[in-house]
Amino acid sequence: MSEKKFYITTPIFYANAELHLGHTYTLVLSDILARYHRLIGDRTFFLTGSDEHGDKIVRAAQKEGIGPQAFVNGNVAKMQELLKELGISNDLFIRTSDRELHWPGAKKLWHALESAGDIYKGTYKGLYCVGCEAFITEKELVNGKCPLHDTEPEHIEEENYFFKLSKYGPEIKRLLESGELKITPHSKVNEIIALLSSLTGENSLGDVSISRPERAIPWGVPVPDDPTQLMYVWCDALSNYISALGYGSDNEEKFKSFWPADIQVLGKDILRFHALLWPAFLLSAKLPLPRELLVHGFVNSGGKKMSKSLGNVLSPGEFIALYSRDALRYYLAREVSPIEDWDLTREKFKEVYNANLANGLGNLVSRTLKMAEQYFGGVVRGDATHSPSIRTKLTTIEAPGDVAGLNIPYIITNDILPRYHKHMSVSEINKAADVVWELIGHLDQFVTDYEPFKLVKTDKKAAEAVIWGLLYGLREVGQMLVPMMPDTAERITLLVGVSLVGADEMVFNSKAPSEPLFRRKE
Ligand code: MSP
Repeated sequence: MSEKKFYITTPIFYANAELHLGHTYTLVLSDILARYHRLIGDRTFFLTGSDEHGDKIVRAAQKEGIGPQAFVNGNVAKMQELLKELGISNDLFIRTSDRELHWPGAKKLWHALESAGDIYKGTYKGLYCVGCEAFITEKELVNGKCPLHDTEPEHIEEENYFFKLSKYGPEIKRLLESGELKITPHSKVNEIIALLSSLTGENSLGDVSISRPERAIPWGVPVPDDPTQLMYVWCDALSNYISALGYGSDNEEKFKSFWPADIQVLGKDILRFHALLWPAFLLSAKLPLPRELLVHGFVNSGGKKMSKSLGNVLSPGEFIALYSRDALRYYLAREVSPIEDWDLTREKFKEVYNANLANGLGNLVSRTLKMAEQYFGGVVRGDATHSPSIRTKLTTIEAPGDVAGLNIPYIITNDILPRYHKHMSVSEINKAADVVWELIGHLDQFVTDYEPFKLVKTDKKAAEAVIWGLLYGLREVGQMLVPMMPDTAERITLLVGVSLVGADEMVFNSKAPSEPLFRRKE
């Protein structure tokens, strides 16, 4: 077991609407990594939460004719319900409207920037996109509109506090280039450095506004010592990553033990906030920087980023109800690239579900367990593998071994587990999932090659060895699926059932499933 700590965060989700499949991707990707790190024994803290302030929320609440607090409470309740349905194993859900946990942290960070001499008052004049909750330049517009939200930005002229982002440009560039602040995929580093330069033409940045004047509805964290201003929503929101650990609100035990974050997961649309603004805040406050920003692509629908404002969203609930949460998690883990954009269609989902879950995994589990029950009453002994001919055929089984602290006494196929761990340790969850399905393929091939259903009539001992090998393989599959498909992993592990594990013997006490793991969809 390792002694390492692992702190992973998702962005906090705008509490203006229900979460769709795009948000679900961020959540599931992070959850898989959190569960993996728990599995290998890391002291893990997994944070997610809701971003509840800003104009976007106030306007959405007004539209519904209710106050912003009641409005966000309703949406957050739905968010938390979805998290449960998806099996998200977060240790905490932070809300930016939480005055006890979050506000003191946001204010402490503000004070730290102020003490560093990095905050000054000025007038902001320019364009603002409410969808992005960000100032936007003429250059970024496409046909006069924000390309992400397809809406015209608003002209704004107001008194604001500014943050000296420009002061930190060169240091951020150095940190990005040296990899001290790692961005995955690496190609994003150049993109951010180019952006950094383009903002001023030099290697430094312009300064940014970090407050907004308080409006008719005061909705946000008040700027310390100036109640006429509220913190700019990104400044408020980014501080959640440390306020959640008690920064500013308690003795900061948890903060000291978990910060800096090991991985901060985010979509590419919000990289600039996390790769420029956030590091600059932390540098200014003299706090350590996160180790890695893991940036994923967009889930598209009809060729455009799935988003509420474009009205092209697919709901995760639909897939969970029709298939299962593990089927959805499987799709997000294996069938999409964590880096590229991808398009989701109901047809593709069904196709993949039938091929890889109903047929692939589900079929193998049912077949194997039925044979074990029918021929051996479910009790399959490891010493059957001593049959020399089969033993050589089971070339891949070696004993004993202990891989990456998982305490698995045997290794099946010399390199499956190491490859799985290698991919998981660098967040390549789709490649790790491919390795699991590679093993499933080997096991299918094993049935084809040895035909235990025939062998049992001529050489029962040999048939037992084959089925033992299959059960052994399925046990490995179950272990590897723990982070991605926790329900399925548990089910397989229970069905395969190990009653005795010795140095050179493992007895399975298995039972056939009463119904298929994944029912085929026509
Ligand atoms: N509230 C900000 C984040 C503040 S973090 C200090 C925000 N919220 S969001 O609800 O709009 O997005 C949350 C996450 O969901 C982001 O990582 C975003 O990239 C992701 N996604 C939202 N739509 C998406 C897709 N269509 N596809 C993939 N991920 C997308 O931004």
